[in-house]
Amino acid sequence: MGLTPIWRSSSCPLSPDGGAVADLTVSRPPSQEEKSELSEAVRRKLSMQEVRRSLPVYPYRQYLLAAIAEHQILIIEGETGSGKTTQIPQYLYEEGYTEKGMKIGCTQPRRVAAMSVAARVSQEMGVKLGNEVGYSIRFEDCTSERTLLKYMTDGMLLREFLTEPDLSSYSVIIIDEAHERTLHTDILFGLIKDIARFRPALKVLIASATLDTERFSTFFDDAPIFRIPGRRFPVDIFYTKAPEADYLEACVVSVLQIHVTQAPGDILVFLTGQEEIEACCEMLQERCRRLGSKIPELLVLPIYANLPSDMQAKIFEPTPPGARKVVVATNIAETSLTIDGIIYVIDPGFCKQKSYNARTGMESLIVTPCSRASANQRAGRAGRVAAGKCFRLYTAWAYKNEMEETTVPEIQRTNLGNVVLLLKSLGINDLIHFDFMDPPPHETLVLALEQLYALGALNHLGELTKLGRKMAELPVDPMLSKMILASEQYKCSEQILSIAAMLSVNNSIFYRPKDKVVHADNARMNFFLPGGDHLVLLNVYTQSAFSMQWCYENFIQFRSMRRARDVREQLEGLMERIEVDLTSSEGDYVPIRKAITAGFFYHTARLTRTGYKTPRWLIYHELVFTTKEFMRQVHQPAIDSTWLLEVAPHYYKAKELEDASAKKLPRKVGKTREELG
Ligand code: CDP
Ligand code: MG
Repeated sequence: MGLTPIWRSSSCPLSPDGGAVADLTVSRPPSQEEKSELSEAVRRKLSMQEVRRSLPVYPYRQYLLAAIAEHQILIIEGETGSGKTTQIPQYLYEEGYTEKGMKIGCTQPRRVAAMSVAARVSQEMGVKLGNEVGYSIRFEDCTSERTLLKYMTDGMLLREFLTEPDLSSYSVIIIDEAHERTLHTDILFGLIKDIARFRPALKVLIASATLDTERFSTFFDDAPIFRIPGRRFPVDIFYTKAPEADYLEACVVSVLQIHVTQAPGDILVFLTGQEEIEACCEMLQERCRRLGSKIPELLVLPIYANLPSDMQAKIFEPTPPGARKVVVATNIAETSLTIDGIIYVIDPGFCKQKSYNARTGMESLIVTPCSRASANQRAGRAGRVAAGKCFRLYTAWAYKNEMEETTVPEIQRTNLGNVVLLLKSLGINDLIHFDFMDPPPHETLVLALEQLYALGALNHLGELTKLGRKMAELPVDPMLSKMILASEQYKCSEQILSIAAMLSVNNSIFYRPKDKVVHADNARMNFFLPGGDHLVLLNVYTQSAFSMQWCYENFIQFRSMRRARDVREQLEGLMERIEVDLTSSEGDYVPIRKAITAGFFYHTARLTRTGYKTPRWLIYHELVFTTKEFMRQVHQPAIDSTWLLEVAPHYYKAKELEDASAKKLPRKVGKTREELG
């Protein structure tokens, strides 16, 4: 089992970033005293209050509060782990910002981060999670009337604008992890900047890791930047001599190598997603088993978005003496979560990124090299508690020449349908002139408008229709919400809700262990219905009855089923609000398939096997582009082209559908591009 070093032994220290001078505070390196204090703290396992006082933000508490009192909008920059997310809301609470029942809201781009920091803060404050401290993420609201500190995903705060356009129940809004520049965070920037103008008492804090904070300042009319001086220990960086053919294998080898050759300290590995992480963890466990007592204990812990929360909490548990912990994470551990005790970082240099082709309307998730900014954040994770080491599984040349400087903001590489619908329902009609920090490409905006027009959410003037207003109320993609709303007409909302719920937990329903692939695939075949993958999902949902035993026997992930049931309950609750009756078409699949078509007709592909006289149409849920493109959730068999006319008469011309010789996808009819802008 190859333990030959794959990295170069010479090291070059991580250069400190920029050496920017603090605007409002004085930057200084940690003194020798502080350093030993800190590592001592790690060893002694401090009480929670002591830990709070040991965080880099703590000495600046008063200055920070004074700056917040003085300025309406403040940019806060601080190294990851300095206490921005967990401490600042508490300081504000202690300072009285929640008097008169006002709330402090703090957004996070990632669900896991929102849940995990809320749990941590409720512990620190000694209250039950969901009471004074709560979190809200899509399909899961863990808050109550009493909640004063509310952590939430950026997408959830965006939705709150629908019910409370001036966010009047909040005294402070913290847009955290601003450097991540997610689509929702970027939209929030524009909206918050706007409401801050007519709500002078609202405090706005933009919190970011040490990355390009001047841009935030410029966007927010030169708001001052408060820099929290970080404590960062030196990190030695190692590169591989040659590019790695198999970075997963390289990760496993590196972890074991560190484990047997290096001084105590935990390891953090960055991979791109759940599948990779699970594979890596399995490989590590397998090799540790084989090595048995020849090596000290190695605790292997995964962390990714869909991991159940009890397992997420494990990564924060202190490592038992004599053992070593290895956390295998997505880039959630880059800046959103800080795990104490990490000394070694392994960085293969990749991340999963959404990209969008506005010409074809195809959205894809591609594993690509991460940016240099990301790579530096990752390396920085190794130097929080002591001097650390970062092993980059790529060459120094690749770092210099093959990586982009920074990551392109999501708004420039994603489908905007959802966000456009939301902005339209907030009464923002002129999207071209919306205050974007970085505007999306024009074609992407136009395509989103076209799609919404096709779905009937916008009229030919680009105005929101009654249907569109209802669609915006549902926290799902426009096509899915159209499908749900169409189920009213076809009298099958019970079944459609189950399908929608299953689609939203999509990737993780079928369990396919490597050693039982054949059994798993056979089990899956049993759910086949001659109406397509959507009906298969419905079939699984109906048959499971949420029995753990049944799920086990049928290779279905019980956890995913439970989650689907939760999602379905939430959606059912929303149906009442948008006044859609619950109806059932049990046993008759035609109405169900029509409702699906009504939502997804925009995703039609023509079957072009030679021999067919008339084209046959397929409906798909999403196109996923990995090594080659394939459709996920194909609605088959081919649907009747008259259905397309029935569900979207304004969109399809009968003639085009019948024209068997047509080479292209159905073209849109009506005047869209010019009129909708
Ligand atoms: O937001 P920022 O990166 O500046 O730091 P933070 O998330 O507030 O983390 C401050 C401290 O809280 C770190 O030492 C974390 O390890 C700790 N923390 C924790 O122990 N458990 C959590 N779920 C979240 C944070
Ligand atoms: Mg944070």
